[in-house]
Amino acid sequence: GAATGPTAERAGEPRTGERLRSHQWYGTGGLRSFSHRARTRQLGYLPEEHLGKPVIAVLNTWSDINPCHVHLRDRAQAVKRGVWQAGGFPLEFPVATLSETFQKPTPMLYRNLLALETEELLRSYPVDGAVLLGGCDKSTPALLMGAASADLPAVFVPAGPMLPGHWRDQVLGSGTDMWKYWDDRRAGLIGDRELAELETGLARSPGTCMTMGTASTLTAAAEALGVTLPGASSIPAVDSGHERMAAASGRLCVDLVHRDLRLSSVLTREAYEDAVTAVLALGGSTNAVIHLIALAGRSGVRLTLDDFDRIARTVPVLADLRPGGRYLMEDFHFAGGLPGFLTRIADLLHRDRPTVAHPTLREQLAGALVHNADVIRPRERPLADEGGVAVLRGNLCPDGAVIKHIAAEPRLLRHTGPAVVFPDYRTLQRTIDDPALGITPGHVLVLQNAGPVGGPGMPEYGMLPLPAYLLKQGVRDMVRISDARMSGTSYGACVLHIAPESAVGGPLALVRNGDLVTLDVPARTLRLEIPDAELARRRAAWTPPPRRYERGYGALYTEHITQADTGCDFGFLARPGRTPDPCAG
Ligand code: FES
Ligand code: MG
Repeated sequence: GAATGPTAERAGEPRTGERLRSHQWYGTGGLRSFSHRARTRQLGYLPEEHLGKPVIAVLNTWSDINPCHVHLRDRAQAVKRGVWQAGGFPLEFPVATLSETFQKPTPMLYRNLLALETEELLRSYPVDGAVLLGGCDKSTPALLMGAASADLPAVFVPAGPMLPGHWRDQVLGSGTDMWKYWDDRRAGLIGDRELAELETGLARSPGTCMTMGTASTLTAAAEALGVTLPGASSIPAVDSGHERMAAASGRLCVDLVHRDLRLSSVLTREAYEDAVTAVLALGGSTNAVIHLIALAGRSGVRLTLDDFDRIARTVPVLADLRPGGRYLMEDFHFAGGLPGFLTRIADLLHRDRPTVAHPTLREQLAGALVHNADVIRPRERPLADEGGVAVLRGNLCPDGAVIKHIAAEPRLLRHTGPAVVFPDYRTLQRTIDDPALGITPGHVLVLQNAGPVGGPGMPEYGMLPLPAYLLKQGVRDMVRISDARMSGTSYGACVLHIAPESAVGGPLALVRNGDLVTLDVPARTLRLEIPDAELARRRAAWTPPPRRYERGYGALYTEHITQADTGCDFGFLARPGRTPDPCAG
């Protein structure tokens, strides 16, 4: 028909929105913009469909292998619908998928790769704004780190939690109940049939883990930072409200471009402090410590472990969510979600800062309500008086370590015991059940070489398994220390993120069997009870373990990764400095 025939298309120089970054590609005249317009016709668009409109990149972490993001292929269509409605031009970009479940040795190894990919795609293409689709653990910080460095207007669309799990008369939380029933299995309490039933009941729909694990912690942090629509982070992945939120996020992104509201206006020091406050009040994952420090670094904000410890002492835990509590993300959603939750701690927040959706957080929270005071507790009935994460110092962790003390048996929070040292995770797996080690409940399990360089990628080995013979006696928690991370759905008296790590010569590398280790959470200390002179002697005799990777991305990673206390970013990505915009010259 005439609408698609060559005569219907106007030749020559079109008028475009000259304020748009994409104008540099399409509208500046000359051979280059001629070529870009010709190639956009090749994509199937008439000039009047896109010229002068904000180009919105829809960054999609969908993949067939990622059950947490498998619905995002459809959801991207809703985002595009919203972009078209608002007068923008949506273009979908497939980007790396980081599946917490499937990717080995750990998707943490690839967080910075997705961050790098995100930043460079946004910079090198004609993009005016971005909608970021993700939610499985590392995807959220990775997409936001890259977008913060590119500093365009951007909206984050959380993938949303999956539906609650079910088994017989039990409600199951992903991760948390997997660990719990696996321990029961090792203790001989459940059989093959029960295990087969659990396998079908744990994960019932697309979406991210529906406990307050790492995924929900980070998507809640994104909402608290103000880079999502209000309430977005708790909408179940398969709820039709999720599709409506995706379309609204597309519309919002076009509006942000019109107003030139970039991420740097939203991701301020105040926003990061509020995200820390929210995460702690949620009893969220320890992984948030690393990711928020890294993300803040991309915004030029120096967030430290001490910020977490300082804020933790002022913030009560108010969300009764697994793994620490009882409920799941769907309950939290109907209880009011993050907007309702934030009203409970509004006095602890910086309410005059902007969000992508509102001029101030105050306006964003106006009218938000809590509908269930068991799921979202009132201030006078907290689950804990202090935030769930404590930062430890001492001769075993000069640059810090963290413990999620609300997820530990309280009797272990002040404990001295002899160390049982495992030089790496494989040795631990091979020998932990060997009765010859003579491990008692009072021992301290020590894992070395599981940090950013040693892992590499700081795998989630931090919830060290207990010996089967102790599980059979009913023991369910012991003091465990490592330079690893721990899954957000894990629990126990596990000291994590010890810095510097053992693979670079941190004191953790110097612990030997039988050394006494003292954990004192109220005093915020972790100590190796040996004389300084002995520690110095051992340090002088220490040699670094051989590097696992001699080439490729693994080598790049181990050469540039920073330690846990500074967020495990690559040094060359974290540092400030000039990055030329390719369209500016
Ligand atoms: Fe993807 Fe838990 S495995 S969020
Ligand atoms: Mg996880």
